[in-house]
Amino acid sequence: MKILGIEHIGIAVNDLVQGSSFWKLVLGLKHTGKEQIASQGVVTDIYDTGKGKIELLEALNDESPIAKYLDKRGTGMHHLCLEVKDIKASIKELNENNIQIIGDNYSIGAEGYKVIFIHPKSTGGVLVELAEKPKL
Ligand code: CO
Repeated sequence: MKILGIEHIGIAVNDLVQGSSFWKLVLGLKHTGKEQIASQGVVTDIYDTGKGKIELLEALNDESPIAKYLDKRGTGMHHLCLEVKDIKASIKELNENNIQIIGDNYSIGAEGYKVIFIHPKSTGGVLVELAEKPKL
C-alpha cells in the first residue's frame, strides 16, 4: 500500500468555538475550512500545521459517531488519518489481509477526500482513516 504521510489527526470536541481556541489562538495554526459532512454526522474544522493537519470534530446530531465517542470517552484524540495514493487499491489490500474496515467502500470526507476507516480492533487500538486527495 502506498502511504504518502500523515494527513491529519482527528480530535473530538464538544463545541468547535470553545474546542478550537487552543489550536487557533494559542498555537496560531492556519484555519483552512469548516465543513458539515452529513453522511458522517460531523462538522469538521481544519487547521494546518504545515506538515499534517488538525481536524476538530463536532457531532452534528445525537446519532453521530462523535456524539457516541464523546459520551463514552469525552473529548480528545479520535483518529489518525494517513494519506494514500490509491484508496481503491488500499481497500482491496485491506480486504485481502482480513483487516476490518468500517463500511464496504470509501465515502467522501472533508475537503473532498475519498476516505475509509479501519476498525481499532485491526490496528492495535487506534481508529485509522485512509484518505485519497481529490484530483484537481
Ligand atoms: Co479525519
